[in-house]
Amino acid sequence: MSEAKPVVLKIGGSVITDKNGELAARTEVINRLAEEIAKANVKNLVIVHGGGSFGHPTAKKYGIKEGLKEEAQKVGFAETHHVMTVLNGLVMDALVWHEVPAVSVTPSSCMLTDNGRINMFDETVTRMLLKMGFTPVFYGDATLDTQLGFTVLSGDQIVAYLAKKLGARKIVLGVDVDGLCDVDPKTVKTAKVYPRVSLQELRAFDGKLDKSTAADVTGGMLGKVTELIPAVEQGIPVAIVNASKPNRVYRALVGEKVEGTLIEKA
Ligand code: IPE
Repeated sequence: MSEAKPVVLKIGGSVITDKNGELAARTEVINRLAEEIAKANVKNLVIVHGGGSFGHPTAKKYGIKEGLKEEAQKVGFAETHHVMTVLNGLVMDALVWHEVPAVSVTPSSCMLTDNGRINMFDETVTRMLLKMGFTPVFYGDATLDTQLGFTVLSGDQIVAYLAKKLGARKIVLGVDVDGLCDVDPKTVKTAKVYPRVSLQELRAFDGKLDKSTAADVTGGMLGKVTELIPAVEQGIPVAIVNASKPNRVYRALVGEKVEGTLIEKA
């Protein structure tokens, strides 16, 4: 039984999938990350992964985020959830293969949202998994919503929520760029990474950062940063690192110096 405060790791969908494709998993990246996670051997680790080219295109096609408006969307809700379980299966495959005691926790089965925000989480199983030394693995999912009928719950919201709820010691955000940048690094080559950002600066960014990737139904880097504010307010530091590059997630997990952005309360 381990009592250490949890570390919450998010692996972005654009890291583990090719967002330009459809249902295009990057299995070699998933494998490398599983190896890094196994090597880091963090006590009380919670993993959350994104949807990339699995969840987003299907969610967009059926307008899942906007909620239930017509019967025909129901199969789209089912499909969005299903493709996420397929991607999750690939992630679980790699983790278990590398002997990480990872157990999948399905957000749509233990969380409800109210107008897009988590308002119910049955945490009993997750807490017991952690207590027993397992690594719970969540993912962005299509979830039921008390106002909208259903919606899309982003992995980023889950990360911030779990970090707060479980009193995490830190959040590691694995993305496909080198950190939080002044301009979109995917379109502007001269983009600069902010090595350290305070809560005050983070609040000022909100609304200014570029909205990257229109195909992303949950809001790109801007959405990520906005989601993190409540966790940072609670004193939980966030390391944003490039998970597409080897060893950055490993270093962030074990607390070694690593290129990226560190967000701290003060
Ligand atoms: C999206 O999760 C899940 C669905 C679209 C069903 P995220 O919003 O966390 O995914 P990424 O990391 O941006 O791809």
